[in-house]
Amino acid sequence: MRINKDQYAVIGNPIAHSKSPFIHGLYAQQTEQNMQYTALRFELDDFKKQLLAFFENGGLGANVTVPFKEDAWAACDTLSAGASLAGAVNTLSYINGKIVGDNTDGLGLVADLINNQSFCFANKKVLILGAGGAVRGVLKPIIDQQPLSITVANRTVAKAEALAQVFINHFNIDVCQFSDLVDQYDLIINGTSSTLSNQKLPLAASIVGSDTVLYDMMYAKDVTAFNDWGLSLGALKAVDGLGMLVGQAAESFYIWRGVRPQTHSVINAVRESL
Ligand code: ATR
Repeated sequence: MRINKDQYAVIGNPIAHSKSPFIHGLYAQQTEQNMQYTALRFELDDFKKQLLAFFENGGLGANVTVPFKEDAWAACDTLSAGASLAGAVNTLSYINGKIVGDNTDGLGLVADLINNQSFCFANKKVLILGAGGAVRGVLKPIIDQQPLSITVANRTVAKAEALAQVFINHFNIDVCQFSDLVDQYDLIINGTSSTLSNQKLPLAASIVGSDTVLYDMMYAKDVTAFNDWGLSLGALKAVDGLGMLVGQAAESFYIWRGVRPQTHSVINAVRESL
């Protein structure tokens, strides 16, 4: 059978819950692209073999999600500068028989803050909570916005120190533990996975002021525990990671198709589907 639509996919395990086929379907409609975007569940071993099978069967590009972002990074022939620093890849393209990797997670986060939340990074003090793969994946686009300062606080401070070293040639990131945090920040990003285990972070109320924006990289139907905490302290606003999800998809779509879709209506559509 002849496949007459350009083939894309999101790869993960598990993957049934993924919103990416819905999001890319809306983008394809909005920008009138002749493409099909499906969800693929890969087995946990031999990521590259399964990936090459997808590409050799006509796949043009793929998004990659948990737990394969590091495997995708290792599978690439070429990496963008951002992906190289991120140590993880969420966007793959197959170009002339070569696997090309990008990371659009941080671009999605930054675009959501700037375009949908009217946030301006200039002269702002940014605090990032967590120092795992999710935070490493978004740091370069945040650095590129040149805020006044970036502080990474983590339960295990050695991991935050190691992360600061990765980016040492790009920005002087301050590092500390949660208990050291006292001063107020303009933007506080929760990049820990504490939301998943429903655990409250041990943070001082003084770090949140009436101008503080909170951004939880996780998203949920209801207000996340982290955002609820910030709002109860009078934060200016608290945003969840749904806009980041839709935003990273828009950047992947742009890499593949050369057209950048509008995200606003798609964020609303995904929110309604939760
Ligand atoms: P991810 O890919 O989601 O970043 P990860 O690399 O395992 O996953 O990193 C998880 C992050 O959440 C880490 O910063 C972790 O802190 P540690 O480095 O100290 O482990 C943080 N984290 C997870 N659960 C947490 C909790 N209950 N309290 C504080 N930090 C937590």
